[in-house]
Amino acid sequence: MDRTTRTVEDLFTLLDELFTREYGTWSIGDGEDFWNVFYADRSRPVPFFVAKPDENLAAAVDRGVIAPGRALDLGCGPGRNALYLASRGFEVDAVDLSPVAIDWARERAAETGADVRFLCGNAFTLTEAELSGPYDLIVDSGCFHHLPPHRRVSYLALLDRVLAPDGHLALTCFVAGVMGSELDDAELYRERQLQGGLGYTSESLRWIFSDLAEVELRRMRQEPSESPLFGVTFLWAALFRRDAAAAVDGVGVGSRAAGADGGGVMRTGPAASGCRAHP
Ligand SMILES: C[S@@+](CC[C@H](N)C(=O)[O-])C[C@H]1O[C@@H](n2cnc3c(N)ncnc32)[C@H](O)[C@@H]1O
Repeated sequence: MDRTTRTVEDLFTLLDELFTREYGTWSIGDGEDFWNVFYADRSRPVPFFVAKPDENLAAAVDRGVIAPGRALDLGCGPGRNALYLASRGFEVDAVDLSPVAIDWARERAAETGADVRFLCGNAFTLTEAELSGPYDLIVDSGCFHHLPPHRRVSYLALLDRVLAPDGHLALTCFVAGVMGSELDDAELYRERQLQGGLGYTSESLRWIFSDLAEVELRRMRQEPSESPLFGVTFLWAALFRRDAAAAVDGVGVGSRAAGADGGGVMRTGPAASGCRAHP
């Protein structure tokens, strides 16, 4: 008999396990294995296997909307955005669940001489010493839409902890109606499937990130194959900023979602999964 659930993180881990029967969820055990297999064959024609940065990220950097500082690439995969940011003078940390992805990213960094600190693990359960912030920029290209609904709370708590006042979140995720599941949150738990990723409407993104200021929310632009940039129209390209005044007033990212205590009071437990060595 198991009566060990005591913390929010214990509960979220229980909920994660609802989705592990689906090969392809993000979650810790199966998720890591899924992504390892996903990245094992680098020759597959997966759009984001190209070593090119997101067009929206490059545009924001070029326009000076995002200035060089400390950056985190969250769910970095083979590191294309992390490498780009390092080349543009950012001090970059990059984290991913999959050791196979991190190995590939490290190889790419060695080839280009990019200086990136790669971390392998679950971004929500890494310790504060491992993932400390504050980051002036958090880039998430394609990680958020693989999370089950309860992990949005973990996500907002992570932003609350590591995103600097005036820092930016650059997010790309599936456009509902074009790509990704359109099941309601409650149905996802009944079905126990994330169906390969969740579609989001612009309204749902505005609601989830309503403690951040919206700088830009548009469809990603299609980039031709010869372009030095990555762009596909089935993704939203969003840029949010953490309002410095709100941060000083104690309004945490996710405080509306988490109640009066704010997202910042939620503490993660000890690391539930380190990256194990892959064969
Ligand atoms: C669609 S891929 C995108 C990879 C990369 N951002 C890119 O665009 O090239 C999503 C990535 O998120 C990672 N991921 C999912 N959940 C994660 C978590 N909890 N912590 C760290 N990485 C995670 C997966 O391992 C996968 O590499």
